[in-house]
Amino acid sequence: MIIAETIMEVREQVRAWRAEGLTVGLVPTMGALHEGHASLVTAAASQCDRVVASVFVNPTQFGPGEDLESYPRDFEHDCQVLEAKGCDMVFHPEVAEMYPEGFATYVNLESEMTKQLCGKSRPSHFRGVCTVVSKLFNIVTPDRAYFGQKDAQQLAVIRQMVRDMSFGVEIVGCPIVREEDGLARSSRNTYLSAGERSAARVLYRSITAAREMIAASGVEVPADEVLSLMRRVVSEEPEANIDYIEAVDGVSLMPVERVKKGTLIALAVYIGKTRLIDNFTV
Ligand code: PAF
Repeated sequence: MIIAETIMEVREQVRAWRAEGLTVGLVPTMGALHEGHASLVTAAASQCDRVVASVFVNPTQFGPGEDLESYPRDFEHDCQVLEAKGCDMVFHPEVAEMYPEGFATYVNLESEMTKQLCGKSRPSHFRGVCTVVSKLFNIVTPDRAYFGQKDAQQLAVIRQMVRDMSFGVEIVGCPIVREEDGLARSSRNTYLSAGERSAARVLYRSITAAREMIAASGVEVPADEVLSLMRRVVSEEPEANIDYIEAVDGVSLMPVERVKKGTLIALAVYIGKTRLIDNFTV
């Protein structure tokens, strides 16, 4: 596996692959890789001739007081995971390579979409995500790019950005990968103490309860009923503090009154100081 630290190295390698007629898949990550990321690389390797993964903790998507400094970093382990799953090149730039002095251009969706869900407590987050992902698309020029459905809002925002900016890349959303007890895999799970890890199961318990209610009803269910049930389940866990639990349209991300096919039910819950997200689409 090639390790590239500069934009130029990536461009030269991709150009050489293109000259051979090969297709290229991109898996953007911030490192601290887990089974969820591994599944993205596996999907990319099965659909593209060559796979590029980026490992870059992107400072512009962290707000003041968030965990930019403490975000887990283990590049050696990341490389082992990537290579084992069939990644051909990892792009691991320094911050100055991506944001050189004088950097001043950002990509921002002028849409209510980025103000919903996580956007309410992380107002500049999606501007940072769209900016770095645009740069990665321009650097790697992938045929396909792979993102996890755990970050459902990020996936919807990137799809909209790709449409709006006419990026020639197909966005592939990959299913959430869960631990045995249902907790969605996340790099931030490493922040949890043993007690918190056990408390964190409440997110999936609330999802399971909501799914059962929706399945039992067989028809459209008022969103209030589903969300109240989920809030009740989460509130039973003393370590848990709800940031949001919402039902929104899966494409526009605007709140809906009735839960039906295509509704995204998403939640963000603090377990101690760690903010965890999860979701499912009906
Ligand atoms: O999902 C992530 O890990 C990040 O938001 C991404 C897409 C790599 C951009 O930094």
